[in-house]
Amino acid sequence: MELNRRDMIKLSALGGAALALPLQRALAAPLVLSNRIAESALPTPFTLPFRIPPTILPTRSDATTDYYRVEMRPTTVEMIPGLQTPMWGYNGSVPGPTFHVERGRQVVVRHLNNLPTIHPQLGYTPWTSVHLHGSASLPEYDGYASDITNPGFWKDYRYPNWQPSRTLWYHDHGLHHTAENVYMGLAGMYQLHDSLERSLKIPTGAYDVPLIVTDAMFNADGSLLFDNSDEKGFYGDVIAVNGVPWPVMRVARRKYRFRILNASVSRSYAWYLDNGASMSVIATDAGLVPAPQKVTSFRHGMAERYEVVIDFAKYAPGTRFALRNRSPKNNTTYTHTDKVMMFEVTDDAFSKTSNALPAQLYPAQPTMALAESQAVRTRTFDLVRTNSKWTINGTTWDDVVASDFAKVLADPLRDDVEIWEIRNTSGGWHHPLHIHFIDFKVLSRNGKPPLAHEKGAKDVVFVGENETVRLLIRFDSGEGKYMMHCHNLVHEDHDMMAQFEIRNPLSPGNDPLGDPCHPLPEWDL
Ligand code: C2O
Ligand code: CU
Ligand code: CU
Repeated sequence: MELNRRDMIKLSALGGAALALPLQRALAAPLVLSNRIAESALPTPFTLPFRIPPTILPTRSDATTDYYRVEMRPTTVEMIPGLQTPMWGYNGSVPGPTFHVERGRQVVVRHLNNLPTIHPQLGYTPWTSVHLHGSASLPEYDGYASDITNPGFWKDYRYPNWQPSRTLWYHDHGLHHTAENVYMGLAGMYQLHDSLERSLKIPTGAYDVPLIVTDAMFNADGSLLFDNSDEKGFYGDVIAVNGVPWPVMRVARRKYRFRILNASVSRSYAWYLDNGASMSVIATDAGLVPAPQKVTSFRHGMAERYEVVIDFAKYAPGTRFALRNRSPKNNTTYTHTDKVMMFEVTDDAFSKTSNALPAQLYPAQPTMALAESQAVRTRTFDLVRTNSKWTINGTTWDDVVASDFAKVLADPLRDDVEIWEIRNTSGGWHHPLHIHFIDFKVLSRNGKPPLAHEKGAKDVVFVGENETVRLLIRFDSGEGKYMMHCHNLVHEDHDMMAQFEIRNPLSPGNDPLGDPCHPLPEWDL
């Protein structure tokens, strides 16, 4: 079928029809506790084998670019042995397949929405918008919440990959249904690699391991139970790593790099090893830290990435110890939500290369090299609940939609350095605040230096109960409108999300709604 540009716009107006219905909501899922599976029917913690998600390969490559094709589709997953759980996966995989991308190579990902037209229990239409979290993407490829792709439509997303090596993740960002879509399985890891990372001889290959942590709750028939507790958050009683509840990982007697991604809808964690051992934080959201930081415990909010090196060399084969969770306050806990995964040391043969942990990793990290004295202004953002809505400075995404996407909370000039002060005056909630497109340095937390594990460039900051966090940001490398929001996805959907605009007098910046989706059939990738 030959379509001209005008036809495409007309057709994709159908794909974007829900833009006109910004107030449509998921039918509230009634909490039917009697339907919740008995705790005794859940797997015994630390019995199921650890696994890592599959790797996705490009469908073709040319001199500058690798092209991938991803289909969002229903699948069934055996998370609880003997029960089938209907979920939604990128290429049918939960979590989605992992991308391995080299810095300097561009990537195009074709995302096809082949989800059902209605969520079987929750009754909403699963339109999607795919966000590559951690990428300095152009506005129209950033997963702008209102840039939706309905079932039966597809869109090509372009990623520049010029940033330093880091752990990114891709997840759904569809208007008002991000929590449900991510909970159903629409999240995966995207690793950006570079030569600095390789030159350090830190663990690589089989010793560089993703840990994607999610929580879930099940009905007796194995289906997922979703309850957003009056828009406060979703808290499951099962903790899964790479989709497996409380797994056991067999490790060799050497160092491992773990890329920990908290992909949970609302649950934050505070990790520790139950033998008292320390972990070395080597990377934060935006990649390698200037120098590793040794910690015995650290707090990890939703969407943050922390990478740690754990050294198993000194343990006798057969030694077991667990990664556990001391829940930060204001998480709903259950019997086994303090458990995450077990390590079991083996006497398996192992490679002795890439087994280093240098004292310096990325001393010249550009965001960490910023100085407070470079800032030209300070802006403040209050994370508050008003009129039974979660807001940022009183603004919701519905306000942005109502303004025809004109309303912005901040308008820094390109290349300016600013201080953003984020305040949470409530004792009842924490909000991991995410700012799209840029990386920032945490200057202070409650007037004190940042915590040891956050001494690296980041794109999400944990704003705890009654906390004030000051961030230093350079708005370089692009212009246009980008979202900022709480990464408790229930808060984000209801409706703690706003936008800012990086202004460049020489170039207006692309329209985030400027490259809409297309109806099937697709044309060549
Ligand atoms: Cu990880 Cu705007 O999201
Ligand atoms: Cu993001
Ligand atoms: Cu929040």
